[in-house]
Amino acid sequence: MKGFFITLEGTEGAGKSTLMDFIGDLLSKSGKQVLLTREPGGTKTGEKIRDILLDSNNTGLTDDTELLLMFAARAQHIEEIIKPALALGKVVICDRFTDASYAYQGGGRGVDHTRIKQLEDWVQKGLQADLTLLFDLDVEIGLRRAGKRSEADRFEQEEIGFFQRIRSCYLERAENEPERFKIIDAAKSFEEVKQQITEILQMKKLC
Ligand code: TMP
Repeated sequence: MKGFFITLEGTEGAGKSTLMDFIGDLLSKSGKQVLLTREPGGTKTGEKIRDILLDSNNTGLTDDTELLLMFAARAQHIEEIIKPALALGKVVICDRFTDASYAYQGGGRGVDHTRIKQLEDWVQKGLQADLTLLFDLDVEIGLRRAGKRSEADRFEQEEIGFFQRIRSCYLERAENEPERFKIIDAAKSFEEVKQQITEILQMKKLC
């Protein structure tokens, strides 16, 4: 693969979607060809799966169904969008990827990590993010921010302990893979967060 694969992660309200545009602009200005995408979603099929996953009326989804739908959307996304873009040498920036499955379905729901690993191996066939920016923030502050933004989706309706387990899982993964993960303090001002991101991208010689 000639390109570079960046994933953005974090609990709710950490601001990663807004910052994705900032990162995209920064890299485009440095002459990179950039593709912005998201999970679950990123393809026509994936966006339909996203609707099912986020619809708060779908109260009966089992944990296994949720996990399998995440990976069904991901399988389509990788083959249709991510791999072809990387093969063309693009920088792919994805709002959430497999770390979210470990954090939300593993940490949050309690699904066994070996199950997630099996799906990861099957669907990704060795594809991994080159860089993962983890936007870390106190869970209560994040939920307050997210609540102001829009009506709660199926995940945002969960209790606070769910998000605390997710945050712990993300931080543990970051600790175990310090080369790939960079933690951003998302409690800082927007300007300071942008500065942190710029320094990381410069360090990686992307801008
Ligand atoms: P978003 O709010 O960042 O757009 O993501 C949609 C929701 O999907 C968010 O609550 C996290 C959740 N999610 C998972 O639970 N597992 C996954 O693998 C992914 C990609 C997202």
